[in-house]
Amino acid sequence: MSFVTKHLENHIAYITLDRPEALHALHSEMLQELLLIVEELKKEKDLRVVVIRSTGDRSFVAGADIAEMANFNATEAKAYADLGHSVFTAISQLACPVIAQINGYALGGGFELALAADLRIAGEKASFAMPETGLGITPGFGGTQRLSKLVGTGVAAELIFTGRRIRAEEAKALGIVNTLVPQEKLAETVKEVAESIALRSPIAIRKAKTLIYAAETLALADGLAFEASAFANCFATEDQKNAMKAFLEKETYTDFQNK
Ligand code: HXC
Repeated sequence: MSFVTKHLENHIAYITLDRPEALHALHSEMLQELLLIVEELKKEKDLRVVVIRSTGDRSFVAGADIAEMANFNATEAKAYADLGHSVFTAISQLACPVIAQINGYALGGGFELALAADLRIAGEKASFAMPETGLGITPGFGGTQRLSKLVGTGVAAELIFTGRRIRAEEAKALGIVNTLVPQEKLAETVKEVAESIALRSPIAIRKAKTLIYAAETLALADGLAFEASAFANCFATEDQKNAMKAFLEKETYTDFQNK
């Protein structure tokens, strides 16, 4: 049985999670399938955007699978967290931008999956929570780290200590959600954003992604040096030459060749 599929179109990969009977709760088999697909995508020649989404209209991912975890011992739990980390790290380390298309519940591991993406685009029915402490566990798929980095320790602490479920508007106000749209416009908006990114320089975007996350660990002077060298390297590309020439000829350049 397949719980995760991929579809490639116009340099964009759409990864779709499909376990509606459990609101797409992630069990080990699903995580393994997701990992396999992400590993396959790494080998794609000119991939420019990845979208992660779920079928239906109720849930993005309602968390890690509580039924699977319930009887874990500590060794099994560690292996499960390690598996989740390897999947979510593989996602966050994809060279191109990753968009989470959030149509409903993004709870626990589902919230953490959304945090492994670069952009979160949500429909009005989306909601977010870290319910783990109410289940006697900490977040284990990266939530304590990625949420703190995204919104700061104060907000992360409140959401993790209380498990409070927030609606899409609050998540937008907190900077968790980049774009909030009416539910019926969600798929279309995500496609438009993905396509608009795919029309820009893939080389520049890959470099920009690396630089943005480097800012989380590098001292400012080191980050600026890294930026200057990445910027300089862009000038060795055909795409930069063509795009700037087009600008000077008063044309809009969208024919990036990834060279
Ligand atoms: C397993 C789940 C599930 C989950 C929902 N289901 N969430 N199964 N793991 N995380 C299943 C339900 O058991 C039910 O199956 C079916 O999906 C529909 O859910 P209902 O509860 O009947 O729906 P509803 O009443 O609408 O409530 C929706 C809900 C609730 C609010 C999302 O399902 C819920 O609170 N789910 C758990 C959310 C959660 O705590 N997530 C964090 C998990 S911990 P049946 O067979 O009864 O129809 C986590 C840790 C990550 O993510 C780190 C791990 C290392």
